Amino acid sequence: QLKGAVFDLDGVITDTARFHSQAWKQIADKVGDGWDEELADALKGIDRMASLDLILKHGGKQHDFTPAEKTALATEKNTRYLQLVDTLTPADILPGIQDFLDALRAGGYKLALASASKNAPRVLKNLGLTDYFPHIVDPATLTHGKPDPEIFVKAAESIDLAPEACIGIEDAAAGVQGINAAGELSIGIGDAEELHEACIVFPSTAELTLPNIKAAMEKGDV
Ligand code: G6P
Ligand code: MG
Repeated sequence: QLKGAVFDLDGVITDTARFHSQAWKQIADKVGDGWDEELADALKGIDRMASLDLILKHGGKQHDFTPAEKTALATEKNTRYLQLVDTLTPADILPGIQDFLDALRAGGYKLALASASKNAPRVLKNLGLTDYFPHIVDPATLTHGKPDPEIFVKAAESIDLAPEACIGIEDAAAGVQGINAAGELSIGIGDAEELHEACIVFPSTAELTLPNIKAAMEKGDV
């Protein structure tokens, strides 16, 4: 019996995954590093410093920067990212998400946010969705990032539910792995191949509805 929903934010509720990529690409270009779509996908769901490490490693530059220089690069990325985030308005909520949140609320489901982003409250505020998420896992309290299940386990705990009573919604392969390892029902949004580990995959948030989830479960895919 499903009683709760654990949401990723970036790339699920709004298209901030694009903003993260845009801001990181500027850093990669600046340090003379390569950038490609595969790298962009690998960064989804990964926390700030781990993302920078992956970018530097991608260009073989992981030994070229001191910790202080890396902190400065991460801060520069975040400043650029926040400029983009502050252009967000409720019109930037991805298709179907507002209706899905309202349907979950009306159905008595509890909601929690499991985003690795320290900027999640600001993004939700700009989208006008703060009230939907009184339960946000603070990424500063985490020992391990996605694909570790920790953030999803804590999200279920925050709404007093067993992981088995929750669906988890993610656009990143690392996130889907974390949801599965936590014991929640994973719903991937995006490319079925990239997210092949998810219990259910919808090509976009427009298909993310309770009837579609129930239909997929009854079909025995899950
Ligand atoms: C999310 C995004 C990642 C981002 C991470 C940290 O997981 O998918 O791309 O790196 O949050 O975000 P922050 O806003 O704290 O740098
Ligand atoms: Mg995401």
